[in-house]
Amino acid sequence: MEQKQDSIEKILDRNFDEIMQTEHPEYVLRRVRPFLELMMEYKCALHEVETKLHVLNEEFAMKYQRNPFESIKSRIKEPESIVNKLRRKNLPLTVTSMEENLADIAGIRVICSFCDDIYTIAELLVQQDDIILLETKDYIRNPKPNGYRSLHMILDIPIFLSTGKRHMKVEVQFRTIAMDFWASLEHKVKYKKDIPHSEEIVAELKECADVISAMDCRMQEIRKKLEGEA
Ligand code: GTP
Ligand code: MG
Repeated sequence: MEQKQDSIEKILDRNFDEIMQTEHPEYVLRRVRPFLELMMEYKCALHEVETKLHVLNEEFAMKYQRNPFESIKSRIKEPESIVNKLRRKNLPLTVTSMEENLADIAGIRVICSFCDDIYTIAELLVQQDDIILLETKDYIRNPKPNGYRSLHMILDIPIFLSTGKRHMKVEVQFRTIAMDFWASLEHKVKYKKDIPHSEEIVAELKECADVISAMDCRMQEIRKKLEGEA
């Protein structure tokens, strides 16, 4: 009896090794290629922005004997989060839609010691003539009601492939070490459902955010005094 071929849904339901055992694994792999290519392009865009930041850090360190940022972390959004976000926004689940509608597939977080360094690096970065600033959200000057502070920028950056130039979007978030510390704890609270005393926790976090902000300012003033600027 002739064996009936499985539907694509049934094939994709299996784990990767099992897919490779199906009759035409190359067909399945070819189908995911456009997605993998787009992710590769975002990865290249991350490298470009990271390099620019490292160059600024080197120069700044040479000129002023200190580093403008403590660390940078970059990430490509997980496929599952991409799909969830598109679904949440009722957007088409296509590669074109991902590229057109999501600005945070490639993300970089720049963690600085001092608030003024955030604006200095952000300014130096967007001034570069191959970068286009698409959007800025300044949650440092305008904190969110919950106390969240960070400077967000969506950048358009070119990458150069064998097929030509591609413009990619990268989201850069700048924050101080203290703001980052706060955001990681608040993130846990946000995504943890049914926590007891949640209203109290929200209020306490808001208070902490304000204390942190005041501390950031004081630390900056101390640094300025040490440098003889104030
Ligand atoms: P989405 O990109 O759809 O999330 O909406 P948006 O573009 O309006 O978001 P926004 O630029 O305000 O924030 C984007 C990212 O910043 C989020 O994915 C988080 O990483 C971070 N973020 C924003 N608000 C908060 C917040 O209140 N708490 C924490 N911990 N992180 C936040
Ligand atoms: Mg966003």
